[in-house]
Amino acid sequence: MKVAVVFNEPYTQLFDPYASKCSEQFKLSEAYKMRGNDIIAEYELISECLRKKGFEAYNLNILDDFNILLTDLEKNKPDIIFNLVEIYKDRAGLEKNFASFFKLLNIPFTGGTTKNLGICQNKYLSKQILAANGISVPKFKCISRIEENCEIDINYPAIVKPVSEDGSIGIDDDSVVRNYDKAIEKINFILNNFKQPAIIEEFIDGRELNVSIIESDDLIVLPISEIDFSDMPENFNKIVGFNAKWNSEHQCYKKTIPICPAKLTKEIEKKVKETAINCFKLLQCSGYARVDIRLDENGNIFILEVNPNPDLSLDAGFFRAAKMYGYSYSDVLEIIVKNALNRT
Ligand SMILES: Nc1ncnc2c1ncn2[C@@H]1O[C@H](COP(=O)(O)OP(=O)(O)O)[C@@H](O)[C@H]1O
Ligand SMILES: [Mg+2]
Repeated sequence: MKVAVVFNEPYTQLFDPYASKCSEQFKLSEAYKMRGNDIIAEYELISECLRKKGFEAYNLNILDDFNILLTDLEKNKPDIIFNLVEIYKDRAGLEKNFASFFKLLNIPFTGGTTKNLGICQNKYLSKQILAANGISVPKFKCISRIEENCEIDINYPAIVKPVSEDGSIGIDDDSVVRNYDKAIEKINFILNNFKQPAIIEEFIDGRELNVSIIESDDLIVLPISEIDFSDMPENFNKIVGFNAKWNSEHQCYKKTIPICPAKLTKEIEKKVKETAINCFKLLQCSGYARVDIRLDENGNIFILEVNPNPDLSLDAGFFRAAKMYGYSYSDVLEIIVKNALNRT
């Protein structure tokens, strides 16, 4: 069984020529810069672990060039794609089209389908679906244009985010706004700099949980993880913004340490797990996903977002939870591949 581990990491090889183009503050390439060249080694480890499980696995970096993918698939004819493509030519919104392409070629692929990736990539659409199905989400509003005296009708503090980004791109300390004027300022910033609508949500002050789910025969909820904000410096908002997620030199990175398993009462744990499974199903996830949740002081659950194809690297939250459950890295990868093969 031949597995192509497909990903798109153009900036490791093409770093210098792209450097000026990529130095805009909020591009994901900044994150690549911070993580350095280790990323390729991370993908190599995935192939290596799959080989340990008996698969004939190889790495395929698209390097922002669709022809590389086409040529390789014709030449190597893999039986299945381990789909780790997240962004193409700097556009996270193109991720879903890779799933379409594999589907049209009739090659099984891991993780989310086009529909699932498309829904979850849009924070407005996914929140509407969840809310319409009785799942509690922070009160939200999507704004594509600022009109004079534009009404927002939301309580403060609130948080303003680009509607279609990932990895906390566009989310910084000043994304948390405490009044209408600041909200309008940040919304304008998003509209102008990201060329997409902004979503403004009521800020849920409370604990933040990450719930990883893997699909074997059934959906398995892995041990719940919590971001510990207790040491966060007073002058920062308690959020996992861009620096907290990617900039290992930043104090917010060092002060947002995940704890797994999270200490929860049995009752809340059960409620969180059930809600996460509902979200997985409602947004039509497949294979594996991570649901991000906030718990307010009364134990009410609010869904922040559902992440299909979450980061699978060894030090990311998904595997941390899987390891706590008792899976090895190779086990996790094998389950994901088998799920894709068994899908109808
Ligand atoms: N409504 C909210 N209330 C409180 N914190 C939030 C809210 N929305 C986002 N955040 C904070 O911002 C982080 C990133 O937001 P999220 O919607 O998950 O975007 P991304 O897709 O970039 O990860 C969250 O992990 C959380 O810390
Ligand atoms: Mg998130």
